[in-house]
Amino acid sequence: MPEQARFCPHCGVPTTPQSPTEERKIATILFADLVGSTELGRSQDPEQTRAMLDRFYEAMRIEVEAAGGTVEKFVGDAVMAAFGTPTAHEDDAERALRAGVAMRRKLHELFGDQLALRIGVNTGEVVVGRAREGSSFVTGDAVNIAARLEQTAAPGEIIVGERTASGAFGAFEFSDAETVDVKGRHRGVVRRRLIREFKEGRARGFGNLPRVFVGREGELDSLLDAYRQTVAVGRPRLLTIVGEAGVGKTALASRLWERLDGESPAPLRLVGRCPSYGGITYAPFAEMLRSTLHLLESDDPATVLERLGGQPILGLTLGLDVAGNLHPLVARERLQEAWVDLLGQLGRERPLLIILEDLHWGEEPLLGLVERIISDLQAPLMVLATARPDLPDRLHARLAESGTWLELDLLTQRDSRRLLQELLAADLPSAVREEVLARAEGNPFFLEELLAALIDGGVLRPEAEGWRAAPLPDAFVIPDSVHAAIASRVDLLDRPEKEALQAAAVIGRVFWTSAVYELLPDVTPDFRMLESRGFIRRRPQSALEGEREYGIKHALTREVAYSSVPKARRAHLHARFAEWLERLGTGRDEHASLLAHHYAEAVDGEAFNLAWSREPQEGERLQDKAATWLRRAAELAIGRYEIDDALALLERVLALTRDDAERAGVWRTIGRACALKHDGEGFWTAMRFAIDATDTTTDPQTVAEMYAALALQTALRPAMWKRNPDRELVDGWIERAVALAPANTRARAEAVLARAFWDRLDSEADDDAREGAAIAKELGAVDLRSYAFSARALVALASSAYEEAEEATRRRLALLSEISDPDHRADIYWSAVVVNSALGRLAEARRLARLNDEINSLLTPHHRVHGIAARVRVDELGGRWDVIRDLQRDAESRVAANVDTPCSDNVFCLLVCALACAELGDQSEAARLERAADDLGIEGYIGEHAGPRIRLALSRGELGLVDELVCALKEQKLRGGRSSLSTGAARIDGLVALGRASEVEEEAVESPGARGVRA
Ligand SMILES: Nc1ncnc2c1ncn2[C@@H]1O[C@H](COP(=O)(O)OP(=O)(O)OP(=O)(O)O)[C@@H](O)[C@H]1O
Ligand SMILES: [Mg+2]
Repeated sequence: MPEQARFCPHCGVPTTPQSPTEERKIATILFADLVGSTELGRSQDPEQTRAMLDRFYEAMRIEVEAAGGTVEKFVGDAVMAAFGTPTAHEDDAERALRAGVAMRRKLHELFGDQLALRIGVNTGEVVVGRAREGSSFVTGDAVNIAARLEQTAAPGEIIVGERTASGAFGAFEFSDAETVDVKGRHRGVVRRRLIREFKEGRARGFGNLPRVFVGREGELDSLLDAYRQTVAVGRPRLLTIVGEAGVGKTALASRLWERLDGESPAPLRLVGRCPSYGGITYAPFAEMLRSTLHLLESDDPATVLERLGGQPILGLTLGLDVAGNLHPLVARERLQEAWVDLLGQLGRERPLLIILEDLHWGEEPLLGLVERIISDLQAPLMVLATARPDLPDRLHARLAESGTWLELDLLTQRDSRRLLQELLAADLPSAVREEVLARAEGNPFFLEELLAALIDGGVLRPEAEGWRAAPLPDAFVIPDSVHAAIASRVDLLDRPEKEALQAAAVIGRVFWTSAVYELLPDVTPDFRMLESRGFIRRRPQSALEGEREYGIKHALTREVAYSSVPKARRAHLHARFAEWLERLGTGRDEHASLLAHHYAEAVDGEAFNLAWSREPQEGERLQDKAATWLRRAAELAIGRYEIDDALALLERVLALTRDDAERAGVWRTIGRACALKHDGEGFWTAMRFAIDATDTTTDPQTVAEMYAALALQTALRPAMWKRNPDRELVDGWIERAVALAPANTRARAEAVLARAFWDRLDSEADDDAREGAAIAKELGAVDLRSYAFSARALVALASSAYEEAEEATRRRLALLSEISDPDHRADIYWSAVVVNSALGRLAEARRLARLNDEINSLLTPHHRVHGIAARVRVDELGGRWDVIRDLQRDAESRVAANVDTPCSDNVFCLLVCALACAELGDQSEAARLERAADDLGIEGYIGEHAGPRIRLALSRGELGLVDELVCALKEQKLRGGRSSLSTGAARIDGLVALGRASEVEEEAVESPGARGVRA
């Protein structure tokens, strides 16, 4: 083996030592079992059998290793081999199958028909144990399945698992997939039979989609320039395109190839590739020689020599033994001269272009040949090489000496979009499109493979016109092809850098060098190496003061590196990083979510058992840390109105909390968060859990606080339930809160204010509102004061005390300067809208509704619906149908975004829009909107919804329906329910149309005041 070789030239295994720790990998496992040996054993001497088995083992080992695999073990007369461990290649599935075919062939050569092999091959996730003398210890379900598949094979057959087959399609032909029963697998296992091997490797890109090319205009121009200059000068030149795997080096080179058709004279174009493993040193030149001399791989040496004519030494390129007694160095010299001659002859007639692919896999002598050609040839030749940044340093230096570089970067965002569009020849649903673009990050190979995985997985289905997408699965699995492309590059790294990349992956997409040192006390990685290989990028600024910050270039690289770290080790690394960060920032809030994430990952379900079962105290300590930081992060998220994020964090806290009182506290926070996003059910459930977890006898104060919160939020936000909660239920909460809360406490104030809002027509409501206001003032609680004014205004409105209502509203608006909570500020404007509408000041109501919407628009989807609902409500009162029609699109899209949290305003908005359409004569659109409102399945808000419904029925002349709605309103009123202003008005119109005007008059006497009720 050459001294500096990074790989064994025969098997492609790196010569540098690999990580000694455990790793998770995707590997391909091969089982081969000898059939017929027992019979043979019976008929011959045991010593002979023994010698025969030794020959068998040795022969199989050679075949496995030649394909880049490792023999795991020999059991009886079976062999187990693994591909992808200890070192991953991009084509491990293919390598395993080629090894299988070669093993079968070899066995036949050695033993004829006496013996046969049954082979099973399967790919999957495994854990690789500590390497032992070049071997490794592989465990995982994939191994068991490979063994089971082998048992289903007939003698001489190679049976392949589905994941292996899909990794090797194009390189092999397989039978159709079939499911077979195997022991311990009730659903059976899918298998295919290997039919035959194709000689050429498989091409990239996928079969059913068009081949397209986007962008790269600048690069193409400069390649074309370089070519023309070469021709003008009449001398050779070397240009290397360098870029990460899949970025498009080959595609760019082929594009140039096609472009040169247009040159006159068109050049002679040759292409040669360096294979990823083994093979002959001069493989790319062998390929070119065969194509120029029209030789076939199957031609025998005599034919080849005849074609080589006067230059038999060129046969060395093809691996022929033509050097005779020449000293190897002399033979090499001659070979180089012969190539210079040959190209000289070819270049006499027209210019030459050689595309030399994948030079990072090239060997030293190959480069020597290229250098010789560049220096000695007297003809216009452009050698266009492609290489990944993994190019060994020494090759790097030599290439730089004899040629120039073109660094190929990722595709721009615009070009990636175009690529996606052109590949599918149609638009994708935007969620899928954005996800694919985000994950591919400008790497066209990743993009194509991610897309192919979605198509294979049935997420994307072709239709007559474009594509239909099922919802994206939660875990967007990395395709094996992409995983392999990345994993193989990671495995090329030396141990310190590889471990550093893995540790960085645990830290995140962005990491800091000191943190990596902290995580890996025994390792000294070279970050510049990781940078020059294109794995990471230095970031100009750092989020942590004084710390050098890097980013992992691709999110997919991070995922692959992360997934290679065993879960137990991940947990330890997460914990170590969190502690480092906590020390560094002495626990500052700005790190809260990062700390929460890392502590939580350190003790996450499965990881907890794997990592801490032997150190339970440490495990519990970390759990407490995780809970503390998750809660803090959740509080901060609530403060930013990132309610769903907050809820996800709190959910994790619950799983970690061992103490009841603490758990009750978490549930209270969950309840508050649910109320903020108007999720009534979630709020109620959370509060019930909180109350259940609290002992009323020992802690009545806390229980009172919880009932008070439950009651007040429900009274303030009655719109958050899919079905209005029963009055009795809410009455019960209020009673409990009032009974348990000591005088002059916040809980007491909340309880009485809740009662005031809830029983707005109650004669005592005003007393409640005043008591609430007094306590709030005493406690200096400006939020409660504001709610108290709101209660007083609405109570006053209900009893037609307009001046009082106006005064309370004015004073509430004056508190705006002291209240920063946006949800509360929006509520202040909202109640002012209600009061001004009731007073008939529609222009002012409209202005306030806009201010209300401005705030709501920045909050949750639910708030956004409230924002637009308040606006259409005012315009409905004013009969401004054109204006509502203009708002319709916006209203519909806000409702669509809010279907997950029930809201009576969802229905209300659609109904009012329907009404506007009907009023403007578009009955079919009105009907569509009304159906959409019905489809939301929200019941029990008759006081709010009957208004537009009555008017819609009137517009269609459906008096029966009008009658039903009027009756329903009457019943609701008997139960103590209330109606909105517009419903009240619509009801009167309905009664008139029904010829029951007398009831209208009674109505007028009974209830002179207009009532504003929030939906
Ligand atoms: N500019 C482009 N427009 C459209 N498709 C592209 C473009 N560049 C690359 N592709 C596609 O992306 C895939 C990967 O490209 P290519 O094989 O050229 O990458 P590479 O850089 O040569 O990778 P490797 O280092 O693995 O050889 C191919 O299927 C190719 O067709
Ligand atoms: Mg390529």
